[in-house]
Amino acid sequence: MSKQSQTSRKTVKDIAKAKNGTPLVMLTAYDAPMAELMDPHVDMLLVGDSLGMVVHGLPSTVGVTMEMMILHGQAVMRGSEQAFVVVDMPFGSYETSEDQAFLNAVRIMKETGCQAVKIESGAYAAKHIVHLVERGIPVMAHVGLRPQSVNVDGGFRAKGRTKAEREVVLNEARAADWAGAFAIVIEGVTEDLAAEITAAVSCPTIGIGASVSCDGQVLVAQDMLGLFDWAPKFVRHYADLRTDMDKAFAQYAADVRSREFPGKSETYSLRKPAPKQP
Ligand code: KIV
Repeated sequence: MSKQSQTSRKTVKDIAKAKNGTPLVMLTAYDAPMAELMDPHVDMLLVGDSLGMVVHGLPSTVGVTMEMMILHGQAVMRGSEQAFVVVDMPFGSYETSEDQAFLNAVRIMKETGCQAVKIESGAYAAKHIVHLVERGIPVMAHVGLRPQSVNVDGGFRAKGRTKAEREVVLNEARAADWAGAFAIVIEGVTEDLAAEITAAVSCPTIGIGASVSCDGQVLVAQDMLGLFDWAPKFVRHYADLRTDMDKAFAQYAADVRSREFPGKSETYSLRKPAPKQP
């Protein structure tokens, strides 16, 4: 029996209870071993389309496909057992129509076994959210800095720093809440705007670069583990894996070149014959 069917996972009800309570903990995960390590510590795992950049080396999330999201979603489901798993809908998989959004969300849910999908929801997407939720698909919304809009925005920039932008982000969040999103990711906004959104909506808000004034937090795992030589201002490094991994790779290369590796204990030898029975 797989891990998935042996245990019960957190549900949307558990997530809803966190509104104004203990902050929700979410991390991105893209593969089974990392999901297994994170699972005991988190409420939610997000199979984010950031995998395009942090795993596949793409310049943005725009090139991410349904196939990529499904493959990584399946791995994260295999590696975890209690976390509520959300899979991002990639750019181009939901914007055309409510039907397109529904059919692709169904495919993600059926092929990965995840509990919910996330969409980067401009106010226009409220009708897509209603359509999905009414048909049984929990939706996490994503407002503020929406990485799939990088080409419209001309880069990854914090949002809501002008009065006009504040109104746009606030409307996106209100629309998603009205439409039935079970939670809203708020990315890259000022603290007062995050606080205003969190107070204005009935569902929990999950911040990334959106201050402590949210109902939970999410970080890209590779960023908080210090895997890259650059990270956004809002990332706290909880490890320095880049340095540790660089040291490990350099040491391995040196050991191979000097024939120090493999040693006797890492080498198979002849089995000793079993003693003869009297
Ligand atoms: O794709 C992702 O990792 C995300 C987070 C940044 C929230 O959407």
